[in-house]
Amino acid sequence: MPIGVFDSGLGGLTILRALQSHLPDQAFMYLGDNANTPYGTRDTYDVFDLTTKSVQTLFDKGCELVIIACNTASASALHRMQVSWLPKGNKRVLGVFVPMIENLTKRDWGDNTPPTHTGLENVAVFATQSTIESAAFPREMKFRARDVEVFGHACDGLVEAIEAGDTARSEVLVKAHVEALLQRLPQPQAAVLGCTHYPIVEKLFRAALPDNTKLLSQPGIVAEATTDYLGRHKIYRETGDTRYFTTGATETVGKLAELFLGHSVAWKKV
Ligand code: DGL
Repeated sequence: MPIGVFDSGLGGLTILRALQSHLPDQAFMYLGDNANTPYGTRDTYDVFDLTTKSVQTLFDKGCELVIIACNTASASALHRMQVSWLPKGNKRVLGVFVPMIENLTKRDWGDNTPPTHTGLENVAVFATQSTIESAAFPREMKFRARDVEVFGHACDGLVEAIEAGDTARSEVLVKAHVEALLQRLPQPQAAVLGCTHYPIVEKLFRAALPDNTKLLSQPGIVAEATTDYLGRHKIYRETGDTRYFTTGATETVGKLAELFLGHSVAWKKV
């Protein structure tokens, strides 16, 4: 069966591309909820309802494993889905949040021993308003890493600018948001792009951050963790190509997606 990859819109394509390059023969099914994007300004209940609806669509289309390639949904909905929504059986949902925390803390998610020194003193997190408000990132970091201080910053307007393909506006916004963060933390040791849309403008973040700040972007980290997971759960492996679905207007989504993917693909409406 194909592996489902879900995002509120186009951001999840950054994760899909990395997955495709790590697992070139794997069948994937992408679903962007472009009709309801952005999720980052919605409340938890809304994000839960929209996320479960889209994941159910992917299950109905034959996926058994779905990667929620969206931090907003991973932070607000994933845990509840895993605990009380998933049907009994082999269906699984994984997020993009856990691999990032594991990578930063160098600890397995299931390691419940007391927090340790990770060598990290501070980390800046750029994400949507909803992800920052969920406080999931600082909570999970503190649980594992002793001396690390997390500085979250909500990049208001950036997802909308990216979804609109507005490069000039994205540039202005990234500069302003990074500047605002640097006023609180002038020399971040590490910075996390905690929204799957942001790798699309990763170069802008790199240019605005101090040279010695380590920039962590999710696609490679998530693809590596997923490849590792699939090595241990071979039932989810299936050879095939990728099919693309959206809840939005296929023509508009297709044109924008082409900018991010570098080639055109056929989109179907769900
Ligand atoms: N790309 C998503 C994320 O990682 C969602 C952005 C949004 O819809 O606001 O948070």
